[in-house]
Amino acid sequence: MAAVWRAALAAALRRGARAAPAAAAGMACGLLAAGLLAAAAPAAAQSAAEVARGKELVEASCFLCHGMQGESASELYPRLAGQHAQYIARQLEYFRSGARSSTQMAAMVAELTPADMRALGAYFEAQTPQPQQPEDPELAVVGRYLFMNGNRFSGVPACANCHGAGAGGTAELPRLAGQVSGYIQAQLRAFKSRARGHPVMQPVAELLTELEIVAIGEYLQGR
Ligand code: HEC
Ligand code: HEC
Repeated sequence: MAAVWRAALAAALRRGARAAPAAAAGMACGLLAAGLLAAAAPAAAQSAAEVARGKELVEASCFLCHGMQGESASELYPRLAGQHAQYIARQLEYFRSGARSSTQMAAMVAELTPADMRALGAYFEAQTPQPQQPEDPELAVVGRYLFMNGNRFSGVPACANCHGAGAGGTAELPRLAGQVSGYIQAQLRAFKSRARGHPVMQPVAELLTELEIVAIGEYLQGR
């Protein structure tokens, strides 16, 4: 089962890489920098500059909804603290191209360059996520079971297979730990109704019931 999902993810990521050559190039640069000791110092300086540039942009608008440290206090806005830089940059590009639709975010990204998007990703990734509590601890226990094991009666795969047992994600996969429950639920419903496109998450979300969606949201908020 896990092998099938991993293959699906690999295929989806290959498609994603074609759609986002800049992100792929960024990744290649990262690997190159990691391999070349001589390049390490300039890379660190560049990343400090990116974080500073990201902060400027956040102060100009993003803080209104996502909070200055990426700690949104509302059910409507995702927390971005500790979210992976490449994932953030990619989502900003999706909002700009219309591949992901959100009236509020479309207005926010209209003027951003690819370098701004990378800087915003670097800034939010550098923020430390704060621990959160679920509102309904009993549902969170159900959510934990689903996240770790899936639902073998309906074919829901274990979310942990891809998002990691700690829900920490990777450069390609979003961190879900500590995310606002209402936002997680809204995104799962959006994948399910196909309002948000994604070749891997749509078929996963289609299998989820409303009870499972809420339970997973509660679990992840407290993770
Ligand atoms: C007026 C409120 C508002 C402002 C200001 C705002 N956002 Fe958002 N943002 C949202 C909403 C609402 C969503 C969820 C969209 C959806 O439902 O898909 C979102 C989603 C996102 C996501 C996707 C997160 C994920 O986990 O997939 C990123 C990244 C993001 N915003 C970054 C930014 C950045 C960077 C700025 C500043 C340039 C910004 N936002 C300004 C409201 C806002
Ligand atoms: C085969 C791998 C895979 C599995 C299994 C999987 N996911 Fe995902 N998930 C992804 C990928 C890849 C993305 C990033 C989508 C994008 O780039 O827009 C994602 C995105 C998401 C998002 C959007 C997060 C955000 O910040 O907007 C949520 C929520 C989510 N997954 C929840 C789940 C849940 C809950 C399960 C288990 C029922 C699950 N996923 C199982 C690969 C997977």
